[in-house]
Amino acid sequence: MPRTLGIGVIGCGNISASYMALAPLFKGIEMRACADVDPDAAAARAAEYGLRAQSVDDLLASPDIDIVVNLTVPVAHYDISRRILQAGKHSYSEKPFVLTLPEAESLRRLADASGLRIGSAPDTFMGAAHQLARAAIDEGRVGPITGGTCHVMSSGMEDWHPNPDFFFQPGAGPILDLGPYYITNLVQLIGPVASVAAMTGMGRPTRTIGSGPRMGQEVPVATPTNIHALLQFANGAIVTLGASWDVKAHGHSNMELYGHDGTIFVPDPNFFGGEVRIDDGAGETRPDDRDHPFGRINKVDNHGIDRADYRGAGLADMAAAIIEGRPHRCGLDLATHVVEVMQAILQAGHENRVVRLTTTCTRPEALDPDAAQALLV
Ligand SMILES: NC(=O)c1ccc[n+]([C@@H]2O[C@H](COP(=O)([O-])OP(=O)(O)OC[C@H]3O[C@@H](n4cnc5c(N)ncnc54)[C@H](O)[C@@H]3O)[C@@H](O)[C@H]2O)c1
Repeated sequence: MPRTLGIGVIGCGNISASYMALAPLFKGIEMRACADVDPDAAAARAAEYGLRAQSVDDLLASPDIDIVVNLTVPVAHYDISRRILQAGKHSYSEKPFVLTLPEAESLRRLADASGLRIGSAPDTFMGAAHQLARAAIDEGRVGPITGGTCHVMSSGMEDWHPNPDFFFQPGAGPILDLGPYYITNLVQLIGPVASVAAMTGMGRPTRTIGSGPRMGQEVPVATPTNIHALLQFANGAIVTLGASWDVKAHGHSNMELYGHDGTIFVPDPNFFGGEVRIDDGAGETRPDDRDHPFGRINKVDNHGIDRADYRGAGLADMAAAIIEGRPHRCGLDLATHVVEVMQAILQAGHENRVVRLTTTCTRPEALDPDAAQALLV
C-alpha cells in the first residue's frame, strides 16, 4: 500500500477551493486532478492549485487517482458517488452524503462488492471544540447525557445568495443543508438515534432574492423551512432540534447537552473550533480549544472572524485508515444513519407521527490531540 494516495475532485465550485487549499496540511493525500460538468470551472481551479483539469470520465479512468472527492451539488451526489465506485475508486462526498436511505444502501452494496471505502462530510466534528466536548463526556465530567437542545435558525439564504432557488427545494431546506453538522455531532457525542418526532412548516410560500442580478425575484418554496424535532437517542437521551429559515433573531445557543451532573455548551458544529463551556456543578470551565491541533486559527473568514478550518480532515483520516487498515471516522454507517435521521424528521413532520429509525451506527473513534497531529504533515 503506498503511503500517499492520489486525490481527484469532481465538482469545482465554491467549497472545492477549501479542499484544494487545505490538502497540503495533511499527510497521506496528494491532490492531483479535478473535473466538473463545466470544463471552465475545472480549468480555473486546476490553474489556481496546480492540478490537472480533466473530464469526469478521464478523471475516473486515471490510474494515479485513488480517492475521488465528490463536491457536486446534493442532487448529483448519489450518481457521481456511484460512478466513482464503479470506476474502482474510493469515494468521499460532501454533505448531505445522499438524499435517501435506498441510495445509501445501493452505494454500500457497490463498495462492499469491490472492497472500496465510502466517506462523507461533515468532518467538523473532528474539530477541537467538538473533541473537547467529546472528551468531557467520555471522562464523565457531567455524567450520562439525558437531554439537550440544538438550534440552527436564521432568516434564510435568499438575502445573501444570488441563486438561492435550490435551498428551498426538496433535497435542501435547513434540515438537509445544515442538519448534517448538528446530527453528526450529536451522534459522535451521545450515540445513535432511535426515534424522532417533528412538526414542520413553511414560513412563506415564496422567498424574495435579496442580492445579485435577480434581486427582487420570487422563488417558490417546496420543502419545510421551519422544523422543530425531538430526537430520542438509543441511550435514552431526548434532544430538541430547532432548524429554521424563518427566524429573524433569537437568543438560543447552538447546542446544550444536559448530563446527570452538569451541562456542556457546545459551539456551532458547522465550524471546527469555538468556545466550549462545561458546568459540572462545581462551576464553569472554558477549556482552550487551541491546545488541540484542529483548534489552531488558520484563517480569517469573510466576516473578519478568526477561524480554525481543517476541512479535509475527514478525507485525510480516510486515506490514513486505508493505509493503516483501520475504520475511518467519517464512515459509511455514520453518514447513512444521519441521512435516515434527517429524512425521518421530515417524514415525522409530514405524517404527524413518531418515526423509528431502521439504521444505527457506533460513535466514530474520538480524535485526541495526538491523533489529530498524526494526520498533519
Ligand atoms: N459552499 C459552502 O460553503 C459549503 C460548505 C460545506 C459544504 N458544502 C457542500 O458542498 C457541496 C458543493 O457546494 P458548493 O457550494 O461548492 O456548490 P457549487 O454550486 O458552488 O459547486 C458545485 C459544482 O459542482 C458542479 N457539478 C454539479 N453537478 C455536477 C455533475 N453531475 N458532474 C460534475 N460536476 C457537477 C457544478 O458545475 C459546480 O461547479 C454541496 O453538497 C454543499 O452542501 C458547501
